[in-house]
Amino acid sequence: MATKGIIFDLDGVLVFTDRYHYLAWKEMADGIGVYFDEIINNRLRGVSRMASLEIILERYEGAPLSDEDKAKLAEKKNGLYVEYLKEMTPADVTDEVRDTLRELRKRGYKLAIGSSSKNAKFILGRVDLTSYFDAISDGTNIVRSKPDPEVFIKASEFLGLEPGECAVIEDAFAGIDAAKDGGMTGVAIGDAVKYERADYRLNTFSDLLGIFR
Ligand code: BG6
Ligand code: MG
Repeated sequence: MATKGIIFDLDGVLVFTDRYHYLAWKEMADGIGVYFDEIINNRLRGVSRMASLEIILERYEGAPLSDEDKAKLAEKKNGLYVEYLKEMTPADVTDEVRDTLRELRKRGYKLAIGSSSKNAKFILGRVDLTSYFDAISDGTNIVRSKPDPEVFIKASEFLGLEPGECAVIEDAFAGIDAAKDGGMTGVAIGDAVKYERADYRLNTFSDLLGIFR
């Protein structure tokens, strides 16, 4: 099936919020005395906020935590994270990304966001990218997080396309799994280029223009 829609993951593909996630989780983890480092942070890529917390708590050895305690910890992390996000500006998106998105639109592709983040719309607003997309599917409209395909299936529905007409651009293994299990083309960038399930691999973002002509 010919590709008519392109669905972009946000964190790690269009913007680089890894560091902010790390700093916010680190402060939360330090607060409860649990070990956390950049390697554990890498495992959180594409994973929902609560699922990320559970991964961090694998090393937790303190008093048992109730669901309410966990919700508070996640809320604390998010509060810190959002403060970092407020520092983002349009300069946090490269010209290469903007020019490529503009050219793909010009070529007639419909563009969507497919992100696990509940902060996706806020981030897009901060960096002035909202108007490049025909649809946004994010952590606020899904029940199951990547590697479940739900966020991308919803994005294809929002675009009015079949999953098979969509390609997904992802930096996370979990995101490539979600794309492939949803019946879409999986295009890897960054960390995900090491993953054998990807259909295409990008050295740089503008390589998309050689794939989607
Ligand atoms: C994804 C990130 O985009 O969003 C994950 O890759 C993050 O690391 C997830 O946990 C959820 O983000 P948020 O903003 O809803 O806490
Ligand atoms: Mg990502």
